[in-house]
Amino acid sequence: MENNYPDEKRILIEKSLSELFPSEDNYPQIIYKAMRHSLFSGGKRLRSVLSLSAAEILDYDIHKILPTACAIEYIHTYSLIHDDLPAIDNDKLRRGKPTCHIVFGEDIAILAGDALFAEAFYLISSRQEADSPEKIVKIIEELSDASGVRGMVGGQVVDIESTGKTIASSTLEFIHKNKTGRLISASVKVATILAGADEEKTKALLDYSSHLGLAFQIIDDVLDTAGETELMGKEAGSDERMLKSTYISIFGLEKAKIHAKEEIEKAKDSLSIFGERKQPLIEIADFVYKRSS
Ligand code: IPE
Ligand code: IPE
Ligand code: MG
Ligand code: MG
Ligand code: MG
Repeated sequence: MENNYPDEKRILIEKSLSELFPSEDNYPQIIYKAMRHSLFSGGKRLRSVLSLSAAEILDYDIHKILPTACAIEYIHTYSLIHDDLPAIDNDKLRRGKPTCHIVFGEDIAILAGDALFAEAFYLISSRQEADSPEKIVKIIEELSDASGVRGMVGGQVVDIESTGKTIASSTLEFIHKNKTGRLISASVKVATILAGADEEKTKALLDYSSHLGLAFQIIDDVLDTAGETELMGKEAGSDERMLKSTYISIFGLEKAKIHAKEEIEKAKDSLSIFGERKQPLIEIADFVYKRSS
């Protein structure tokens, strides 16, 4: 991948996903096929790579966080399957392939999303190890909170309610921080929990992730307007077609880019206490800004 993206971590995630995810030989095959269609179709694996990189900066063995990192990819993939449904964004292309509902029908796609979400918590509770059971409970608490009404689902609801309307910039920020930012922050938080990071390091990493999460969705909006379908593996212009409220519809392309850049700089500044160790997370922040997919 482009711009110093930590490919070795992404490859490790791909390998773990293939080891951990059930095969499509299981009955009923159709649901395993649908889940695998969406899960194994590329994707930057940004959230799980962030979990590994946060573990690394905290001097925690990145291999020990793999089940949770993979579970986060299940949750993220579930969110994409449901986000693409005709009732939400009505998209036909995802990760360079036809969306789950286009291939398997809406009924199976809805269930594939549901099953991926459940499978995530099954994976953590059956495979994640920690030096105390309380840490596993904390991870589950964080991921369920970040995915539901106080996080991703809440953001998606306001995204839907804001369609075709002029909204305040504070509402737009709420959407972005929740529909996208919360899961990105949770990906970092789980590493701080497992590593038993102190308050200062935890705060620094959470500040980093919350600025990164907002920047990530602003750039997603920018790419929807200015990016290329081929490179993104999803249809450019989807937001405009759906009359979505985005950083572009409210501020315009140039201001959106400036806003994203500011958030990226704030994310990087949050890492100063880590000295030289911060480099991998700095590179991820630069990647988020410069990416074309
Ligand atoms: C797309 O996320 C959905 C958003 C929350 C913006 P990604 O851009 O991380 O999608 P993949 O995983 O790389 O396909
Ligand atoms: C989706 O935001 C956020 C999710 C929770 C999936 P978008 O609707 O902008 O994501 P894309 O552009 O379809 O990937
Ligand atoms: Mg959407
Ligand atoms: Mg969408
Ligand atoms: Mg988008």
